[in-house]
Amino acid sequence: MQVFHTAAELRAALGGEAGTAFVPTMGNLHAGHVSLIELAKRHGQPVVASIFVNPLQFGAGEDFERYPRTLQADCEKLAAAGCDLVFAPDVAEMYPVPQTFTVQPPGSLANDLCGAFRTGHFSGVATVVLKLFNLVQPRVAVFGKKDFQQLRVIQELVRQFNLPIDIVAGDTLREADGLAMSSRNAYLGATERIQAAQLQRELAAIAAAVQAGERDFEVLAATAARHLKMAGWRIDYVELRDAATLQPPTPDSTRLVVLGAGWLGNTRLIDNLELANPFE
Ligand code: PAJ
Repeated sequence: MQVFHTAAELRAALGGEAGTAFVPTMGNLHAGHVSLIELAKRHGQPVVASIFVNPLQFGAGEDFERYPRTLQADCEKLAAAGCDLVFAPDVAEMYPVPQTFTVQPPGSLANDLCGAFRTGHFSGVATVVLKLFNLVQPRVAVFGKKDFQQLRVIQELVRQFNLPIDIVAGDTLREADGLAMSSRNAYLGATERIQAAQLQRELAAIAAAVQAGERDFEVLAATAARHLKMAGWRIDYVELRDAATLQPPTPDSTRLVVLGAGWLGNTRLIDNLELANPFE
């Protein structure tokens, strides 16, 4: 596996490649990331991973500085998973001039849910992903459903800008107790780590109630939020949404997703669960 830190080296190495499958990450890799590499490998093209903690997508007071940077361990995991090439630029390499051009995702996708609590976050994500797409020029790019709103923003970026890239969505990998794997789980203390699995349980309870015929989505979401608060969570939101528009479900909605975000101490966690069409 080759590791490159500059755009010039990357371009030289990719010169001969007809197409690649690309997995962008911020590093501190876990089995969830590795599963995306494995998914990328199925496309039969060389697999490129990027590792870049993108300052543009972190708000003031968020965890940009303390985000774990573990390049060597990450490269070992990527090599073991069969990744062919790693692009690990530093901030000056990605942003040699101030990034005054930015991508503004549609407000309906990006200003709600996590976007309501992380101003500018999805603009930062869309901007760096567009830059990474231009540097790597992949045929396929793999994103996790763990970050469901991010996935929808990227799918729309590719669609509305006619980028010749297939976006592939990977399922969320979970710990044995159901907690979605996340680099931020490392911040959790022992008690918080036990509390953390409740988010997934509450989302699953909403999904089960909807499948059983319950249609008062607001009551379901409020009940889940109340349970989480009683268990020590500070909740940003629990919402049931149309999985395509991320807006409240309508009679035309075919797929739903229940999403939640909240805090345990200083750690913000998110999760979601897709639901079969309850209207059929
Ligand atoms: P990061 O949080 O490192 O995640 C990289 C990719 O791994 C994303 O597509 C994310 O959805 C996926 N992922 C995270 N946890 C997962 C899990 N438990 N199971 C499966 N996939 C999982 O998301 C980012 O980085 C950044 O925003 C990025 C897209 C790289 C832009 O900076």
